[in-house]
Amino acid sequence: MFHVVKIVKQNVERVEAICLFLSLISTDMKKRFTIISLALLPLLISQCATKKAASDDGVAAGVESAKVAEIKKQYSEAQIQEGMTIWQNSCVKCHKLFEPESRTIAKWETILPNMSMRAKLNQDQSAKFRAYILTHAKLG
Ligand code: HEC
Repeated sequence: MFHVVKIVKQNVERVEAICLFLSLISTDMKKRFTIISLALLPLLISQCATKKAASDDGVAAGVESAKVAEIKKQYSEAQIQEGMTIWQNSCVKCHKLFEPESRTIAKWETILPNMSMRAKLNQDQSAKFRAYILTHAKLG
């Protein structure tokens, strides 16, 4: 929100500068400059918005890969494999086996606690199961 206010403020300052410039030149030139500056304004705003969206995606991807790195530090390959066995055995009781690659880490985080509870996993099992799913989840 603050970012948007800043962009608008910057654009207002630009327009003010253009207006000052316009007051110093002829009427014919004024018309042309007004049209050009009005035409460019949406372009400026959309460019700023695209940059902001791109940096948000970058931040989200960074947070997710940091999470995977953290899990790989905490859990051995054998423990993650155990997680896979838990997934294969416990997650087919009520529905098909949903592949880890079918969802992003962010999405899995909203599903896992609920499903661990439904599958009646204990704390140790759900931690290994979570480690397996998140290290194999869809990227991005
Ligand atoms: C720990 C293994 C396990 C995994 C992984 C798992 N489930 Fe589910 N699962 C459900 C039901 C019911 C739904 C649909 C309703 C819901 O989302 O709560 C569901 C939905 C899902 C969905 C789709 C949710 C979405 O919003 O996309 C996924 C993915 C999933 N389960 C994964 C009952 C179960 C039961 C039954 C006791 C067990 C065991 C169970 N689930 C174990 C598991």
